[in-house]
Amino acid sequence: MNTAVALDKTGSPLSEPVYELSNVSKTYARNLVVALEDVSLTLRKGSFTSVIGSSGCGKSTLLKIMAGLIPPSQGRVTLQGQPVTGTRRDIGMMFQQATLFPWKTAVENIVLPIEIRDGKAAATKALGKAHELLEIVGLKGFEDVYPNELSGGMAQRASICRMLITEPAVLLLDEPFSALDELSRDMMNMELQRICREQDATAFLVTHSIQEAVILSDEIVVMKPRPGRVAEVVKVDLPRPRTLDMMTTPKFGEIVDYIRGMLDKGEDL
Ligand SMILES: Nc1ncnc2c1ncn2[C@@H]1O[C@H](COP(=O)(O)OP(=O)(O)OP(=O)(O)O)[C@@H](O)[C@H]1O
Ligand SMILES: [Mg+2]
Repeated sequence: MNTAVALDKTGSPLSEPVYELSNVSKTYARNLVVALEDVSLTLRKGSFTSVIGSSGCGKSTLLKIMAGLIPPSQGRVTLQGQPVTGTRRDIGMMFQQATLFPWKTAVENIVLPIEIRDGKAAATKALGKAHELLEIVGLKGFEDVYPNELSGGMAQRASICRMLITEPAVLLLDEPFSALDELSRDMMNMELQRICREQDATAFLVTHSIQEAVILSDEIVVMKPRPGRVAEVVKVDLPRPRTLDMMTTPKFGEIVDYIRGMLDKGEDL
């Protein structure tokens, strides 16, 4: 029996694997597009991984397979050792488009996952926390507003709160901050880091921003298009916790340049 513990390059034991993808491929039956080919990845507990690559290289497809929303054509995905065969309660997900229910106010939208999972009384109890989260993302005063009265960025911030309210152990994020201005985006990135650290959450983020990927991640999966596959997994060995002023350090600049170089060799982002 092999009882060896995986070690990192400094000899410290690696945390346990949360997600394991082996040889995952996806061909959409409708148009025979090969969206993913032979993707293998391991996400360890408490780690932050980003995926970056040109439009159409299969990032959202990968995330949807991990979330159990669509099946792979080939390969295997396990979460905490169990095959992923459908959606699960312990995964928090955020999509490219904010999907708030128009007939519910901001705060009602945020407690909705609790209501679905644990009932109305639990949702009422969670209102205090929903208010706190709204304040963190700068939406104090907008608790009772309906989504059509929010800007795109505000709606996205509200849907971030909706994802965080259940304190999921795994966060799957598909460009959650793309509608935010740069300053709010930096703030949300730091907030996301704080929440992940507090909850020892495992996060997987799709982004088009190299800077965002570098400041948040332990590892960046760089993808190549047609068919979508992994070009390289780049390790980011900046110390933690990360701070925004690290973005001006030479080390940060080197990693950004390296990734930009790889993407330039392929296609435009
Ligand atoms: N439901 C679907 N049916 C058929 N083809 C699809 C479907 N969803 C995506 N595709 C195709 O699969 C490929 C990968 O799409 P995907 O949405 O995963 O890309 P992406 O990397 O997330 O792109 P973007 O950066 O633009 O969001 C594309 O060629 C797309 O046309
Ligand atoms: Mg996408």
